[in-house]
Amino acid sequence: MTEECQNYSLEGKFISAVSVTKSKKILGSHIIVQNVVAVVSKPEKYDYIEDVVCKETDIKENEMKLLSLGQNGGKVLLIKQKGELHAIGTKCTHYGALLHTGALGDGRVRCPWHGACFNIKTGDIEDYPGLDSLPCFQVNVDDTGLVHVKARRKDLDLNRRTKKMHEKDANNDTTTLIVGGGPAAATCAESLRQEAFTGNIIMVCKENALPYDRVKVSKTFDIDFEKAVLRPASFYKEHNIEIKLGTEATGLNTIDKVVQLSNNEKLKYNNLFICTGSAPRMPDIPGVDLSNIHVLRDYTDCHAISSKLSQDKHIMILGLGFIGMEAAAFCVDKCASVTIVGRGTIPLQSVFGTDIGNRIKHLFEEKGVKFIFERNIAQFIAKEGGKQPQSVGSVVLTDGEHHPADIVIIGIGSRFYTDWIKDSPIQMLDDGSIVVDKYLKTNVENIYAGGDIAYAPLFGSDNILAAIGHYSLAHYHGKIAALNICGKNTVLNSIPFFWTTLFGKSYRYVGYGKAEKIRIYGSLENLEFFAYYMKDDKVIAMSSVGADPVVADFANFLYEGMTLTETDINKDAFGWMRNKPKDLQNRFQNESIVSA
Ligand SMILES: Cc1cc2nc3c(=O)[nH]c(=O)nc-3n(C[C@H](O)[C@H](O)[C@H](O)COP(=O)(O)OP(=O)(O)OC[C@H]3O[C@@H](n4cnc5c(N)ncnc54)[C@H](O)[C@@H]3O)c2cc1C
Ligand code: FES
Repeated sequence: MTEECQNYSLEGKFISAVSVTKSKKILGSHIIVQNVVAVVSKPEKYDYIEDVVCKETDIKENEMKLLSLGQNGGKVLLIKQKGELHAIGTKCTHYGALLHTGALGDGRVRCPWHGACFNIKTGDIEDYPGLDSLPCFQVNVDDTGLVHVKARRKDLDLNRRTKKMHEKDANNDTTTLIVGGGPAAATCAESLRQEAFTGNIIMVCKENALPYDRVKVSKTFDIDFEKAVLRPASFYKEHNIEIKLGTEATGLNTIDKVVQLSNNEKLKYNNLFICTGSAPRMPDIPGVDLSNIHVLRDYTDCHAISSKLSQDKHIMILGLGFIGMEAAAFCVDKCASVTIVGRGTIPLQSVFGTDIGNRIKHLFEEKGVKFIFERNIAQFIAKEGGKQPQSVGSVVLTDGEHHPADIVIIGIGSRFYTDWIKDSPIQMLDDGSIVVDKYLKTNVENIYAGGDIAYAPLFGSDNILAAIGHYSLAHYHGKIAALNICGKNTVLNSIPFFWTTLFGKSYRYVGYGKAEKIRIYGSLENLEFFAYYMKDDKVIAMSSVGADPVVADFANFLYEGMTLTETDINKDAFGWMRNKPKDLQNRFQNESIVSA
């Protein structure tokens, strides 16, 4: 093959002209030219690559294989299930995890990292995070048992596909109003168009920012906002999704079906989806209004902190939860000191339990983070001789100790952004969460709620009601609200899945509830383990570090309606697993039972 020809095919795409110096055969067409540019038309069949990827006998039932397609580095994920072969894109559309390392369930593959699910027949995204679906490719087995896959080059290169978006119909004046601008809002807006809603879609968001990847706020303070947006402005424009940024909903009249906005506009709706998320809690401590005291919720918060970080600054963090711990991990090598103050004695204990929390504490101490337990901040003291507005310089703790603090980060939980509807007939709990049914419907006709604020039935946890603040679940709620707004009655059936990343290690957790006992397999010391959280003989949740895809596998297990008991684990701790972590028997043999 000539150099030009190699380049031609390496590019994997068609060009309209090729420079050649002598007679060549390019993809079946002879072009006889001498030092001229020959224009090559674009035969449609060359939009596709078709090749043998393996023998039918090379792949077993319920196996996933990452295979090369063609000579240009293209890859497909080949899956065999129920005797059928399926080929789809290889990487999760969220952060790009390789899906053959994930967990294959009944008809779907779940990403090992954060739990997104893709249909193995269509590539459609069925659970989140991430918004796009995967391409799916044609598979044939020939008479000699060779497996052929045919793929559009473009799909192979992109590895992602936005589901077909229906156009807005100028004659349809039905309006769906979305109040909120986080992942629940974003997924709802685009799912409405995907589910053939052709009326007006208006999204109102108090934050002056398009929906973006909020989880980065406490993990990478210097996030590039342009890269963090879930969709660019052009996407919403193209699909006629109107967005009012920097605008707050301030009141709701459910009789006239009108939402009052902070800019004095009144918006009429036919369907309303409320997904206003959570606001960080601020403590009522003297001096809390001084500058350089920050919460972490919006991208402007982390940008404000990162612009002030330097090697001479002392950082004081209030709170032993995820926000405080992620912030400490990010800051510790960029400043003079990081101290975390908390009322408890173990970080992240309420989620991971005592022993895992303690291991994380030691890791943080090894990295130079200081902890002060069983205390609170009693007062923030202004820096002496500082400029106006006065900035914090130190804190006084409840035991009277003084500590330097050039920057303070508050991570003591959140409250729901639902004050604006408290005078409406929508049923809410005292904490401000909104009660919804399994369709995300509130008690008021045509009003739905989702994301952090929804007090909703939890599939996989006996449908108990809870308001759960997970990024993935918020996306999923957006999709379910859209389906139900479109009249496609669909019940919630997502399994809560979340993660945190601390000093480069990802901790995953699936399930829900307060465990009585925890069984750990593997090495907690080396942070390479998985844990069963048990209550009343039942495994209600699992966590893991360095043990993918066990947590994703358990999410599939719960999703398929199965129950794992302590008795099952006593018989065989790994027996239920369908997608085992590498070297399971060696790495995860050690067992320890600990209290929650
Ligand atoms: C710093 C940080 C890190 C996180 N990390 C993780 C993680 O690692 N893993 C995980 O699973 N989850 C994580 N979460 C939780 C996750 O981000 C939330 O569960 C998720 O964003 C909730 O989505 P939502 O759409 O319900 O609301 P939000 O994302 O909170 O968005 C709601 C939006 O509505 C706007 N709004 C509020 N009131 C009004 C009003 N009256 N009118 C109009 N707009 C309004 C808000 O300004 C906001 O922009 C993290 C959260 C934070 C803050
Ligand atoms: S990379 Fe797959 S869910 Fe995040």
